[in-house]
Amino acid sequence: MPPTDRVTDSAMDKLVSLAKRRGFVFQSSEIYGGLGSIWDYGPLGVELKKNIKERWWRSMVHERDDIEGLDAAILMHPKVWEASGHVAGFTDPLVDCKHCKNRFRADDPRIKGTPGEPTAQCPVCGSKGTLTAPRLFNLMFKTFIGPVEDQAAVVYLRPETAQGIYVNYLNVLQSSRQKVPFGIAQIGKAFRNEITPGNFIFRTREFEQMEMQYFVKPGTDLEWFEFWRHERMQWLTQLGVRSAKLRFHQHTKDELAHYAKDAYDIQYEFPFGWQEFEGIHNRTNFDLSRHQEFSGKKLEYLDPATNERFIPYVVETSAGADRLALVVMLDAYSEEEVGGEKRVVMRFHPALAPLKAAVFPLVNKDGMPELARRIFDDVRKHVNTFYDDGGSIGRRYRRQDEAGTPFGITIDGQSVADGTVTVRDRDSLQQERVAADRLVDYLAGKLRG
Ligand code: GAP
Repeated sequence: MPPTDRVTDSAMDKLVSLAKRRGFVFQSSEIYGGLGSIWDYGPLGVELKKNIKERWWRSMVHERDDIEGLDAAILMHPKVWEASGHVAGFTDPLVDCKHCKNRFRADDPRIKGTPGEPTAQCPVCGSKGTLTAPRLFNLMFKTFIGPVEDQAAVVYLRPETAQGIYVNYLNVLQSSRQKVPFGIAQIGKAFRNEITPGNFIFRTREFEQMEMQYFVKPGTDLEWFEFWRHERMQWLTQLGVRSAKLRFHQHTKDELAHYAKDAYDIQYEFPFGWQEFEGIHNRTNFDLSRHQEFSGKKLEYLDPATNERFIPYVVETSAGADRLALVVMLDAYSEEEVGGEKRVVMRFHPALAPLKAAVFPLVNKDGMPELARRIFDDVRKHVNTFYDDGGSIGRRYRRQDEAGTPFGITIDGQSVADGTVTVRDRDSLQQERVAADRLVDYLAGKLRG
């Protein structure tokens, strides 16, 4: 049967429940009742996210000559965030209800009327005239460096990784001997005190970004912007995300961030609608110029070919690792009927699958467990593999289908007699007999292809 492809209202509920059941994602501090919109990755989730990040890093840094890697600290000099515009501008307008004390974004569609006016009604308690006029609320988390909690020691948890790249741009340029155009890539945590977080790992207060800033000569920015827009979309479809579920959304003037001249979101059709999970931004020379101004350090580039000096323009690609993990999980989730029974299967691209293979002795006797263990020890040296001897073989297959494991290797009576095993393909459900001593090559070939 072909997989069903319905995005239903309960698609998120089903995924959240599978994620918990199979160990992809857990609520943070669950035994204490959880912490608002913060999530932990379990044994399978950490592998999935690691694979996503690894593929991104490989395509950006290892497979290109013109991009260098960086891992900047989360805490930075507070002036960075003044220069970047985040202290003044990284805000959401909020409205409080003086009666029930709930807080909303000023553009919350549930609010009837204009906040601050006597006719406006609170969407939670229904009171009229109790909503304050909108006030700006900064999304950056603050903390303190050193033992004295005074203003001078305030630092912020970075709300984007990009700034760590800008302030290191000259260090990287000089130490790597790159020339413009060139890029710097970074993967790391970012924090935002979001007012309306939610939808599982879609919008959280702590998340990971995979950002690449590409420094170009002014005037060539439009060309590079187009290049990176297409490059990113291609990368996603190569990883198996269905193109029918992907689209670009160009920012309108109202949507553009303070730093951007042009921006496209890459959106996915989530069960809760089309939403962004990656952005490609033309940030002009805004950030570098501001850092030059605020730090007093020259951040110009001297073009060795023409002797021209300029502050490079920046084309940024900015993806959320967690949001992309959600895209990958939703896109992989499929339910189908096999032999009158429902099968839930995560059809991950093999490169992203947390486990590549699982080894099952058919029964726990007659030499099968011993042989299965030997095969497991051999295969696990090459690819991430799971050993499972608990329950019926059907149940074991179903568990691995939910984990999205591409190959199930079963050791049966014939294996003990002739050294062959069966390999079950997660998607086609075809079983092939393969000689155990050829298994590693066989899997490598399939995983590459
Ligand atoms: N440096 C540019 C920048 O940070 P952004 O559009 O604010 O741009 C980029 O964020 C990406 O980071 C988003 O497309 C999303 O994938 C991820 N992201 C942003 N806020 C997030 C949040 N609260 N939770 C999860 N991911 C988030």
